Amino acid sequence: MELLANAKINLTLDILRKREDGYHDLQMVMQSVTLADRLTVTPAQGAEGQAVSDLRFLPTGSKNLAQTAAAVFRAATGLGGEVDVSIQKHVPVCAGLAGGSADAAAVLRAMNQLTGAGLPTEKLAEMGAKAGSDVPFCVLGGTALAEGRGELLTPLSPLPPCRVVICKPPFSVSTPQLFGRVNVRKIVRRPDTAGVIAALEAGDLAGVARRMYNVFEDVLEPRRYGEIASIKAALIDCGALGASMSGSGPSVFGLFDSEHDACSALARLEESYRDVFLCAPAGADYEV
Ligand code: C5P
Repeated sequence: MELLANAKINLTLDILRKREDGYHDLQMVMQSVTLADRLTVTPAQGAEGQAVSDLRFLPTGSKNLAQTAAAVFRAATGLGGEVDVSIQKHVPVCAGLAGGSADAAAVLRAMNQLTGAGLPTEKLAEMGAKAGSDVPFCVLGGTALAEGRGELLTPLSPLPPCRVVICKPPFSVSTPQLFGRVNVRKIVRRPDTAGVIAALEAGDLAGVARRMYNVFEDVLEPRRYGEIASIKAALIDCGALGASMSGSGPSVFGLFDSEHDACSALARLEESYRDVFLCAPAGADYEV
């Protein structure tokens, strides 16, 4: 079975509190985009399922999140055997775009079909939380408010049609380390989450774009912060209606209402960066 695993961007990311279990309660407006990995899921050739990709450094066995998801599905349903997962990576890894979580979500959707389990999306999303905090949203897709660890999902009005330019600078940020640097009481600037939701309801792209923000931007090391700020400035300079960092970074994206402006942003960023993508919002109606 072949399927797409769409990346996500964070239109907003806010951290509300640190929890007893070490996780943080978040409030995030998440959006699927058409930038996607391509997966093939087949019954395993050997006794144990493998995950192979065109990136040699990714784990191939049970440590790959795609195989974690398959194990979670088997444990929760008692259905399905081992599966081999072949992944054509297009979404950069460790980038704040939920590439690994999207692959895990795609495996859950594939196993749901292959086994004939036919579980509703909400049930699969709930299962996904056992594989990782971003997996439930990746199962649901489209536009949604994610709260709690990221597993409490409320579908939102779709982001109006637009162009999304994503740029991943060549460094990675450790998500647990970044969470470790956050002092919730000291967060000064926060996104206008309610304003973004209202703008989505009104179909107001510019209203969404101007209210986007990610609180992780303020806890980056100064050198990293400078690079993120300069990518945001380049996107805005080329005509983006708004720009923000996605997840725990380091990817930065801009929203454009003009194809021409988006293409000029792409060309400008490609002069300095290798991982630059032009894509669009993706709806919740996945191709399965
Ligand atoms: O759940 P996941 O494995 O994606 O999370 C990676 C790490 O990010 C966790 O171990 C935790 O340190 C941090 N995290 C957090 N609060 C969240 C999600 C993740 O502190 N809501």
